[in-house]
Amino acid sequence: MADPVRVGILISGRGSNMASLVDASMAADSPYRVVRVLSNVEDAGGLAIATAAGVPIWARSHKGLKRAEFDALIDAELRAADVELVALAGYMRLLSPEFIAGWEGRILNIHPSLLPLYKGLDTHARAIAAGDAEAGCSVHVVTPELDDGPVIAQARVAIRPGDTPGSLADRVLVEEHKLYATALADYARRLR
Ligand code: GRF
Repeated sequence: MADPVRVGILISGRGSNMASLVDASMAADSPYRVVRVLSNVEDAGGLAIATAAGVPIWARSHKGLKRAEFDALIDAELRAADVELVALAGYMRLLSPEFIAGWEGRILNIHPSLLPLYKGLDTHARAIAAGDAEAGCSVHVVTPELDDGPVIAQARVAIRPGDTPGSLADRVLVEEHKLYATALADYARRLR
């Protein structure tokens, strides 16, 4: 079997998607291995989860730095760790075009909507307000436009009468965890 693809995960918060990716990578036949978790929020909850799982972390606030300057720090850390594929998992900052160009086809993101619907924030509230029958989540390749690159996997969740953005988010999140692990593994296999 080829060496697992070296993955770096970028987070800003609780890191539940990151945790599910790390969990899945523990399988003996996983085609990827998580070698770094990076965060622009120094006290992001997910950092403790990564540390407990034995994954080295890097955390630094972006405050006071220009976007491209901060992204250059992330880029340097990823390259120092020989990362081959970057997974955004609740990373709440836009990446600079320079960073994205340097990782073309090598950054994935999970977004809690059925893209191309509801790019950006408040996806579940917008789906409910529109009267949609279904919501869901998408894994896509990251390009310079926000939430816009090619979609490689989607999961659908029925919207129930009485759903709130919170209740819907909870059910979509369960699907996110499964979808992202599968999509990342498939993508990693294709890189080898
Ligand atoms: C997830 O819903 C993800 O799709 C969105 O932000 C949320 C992050 O949650 N981009 P977590 O940090 O992975 O728990």
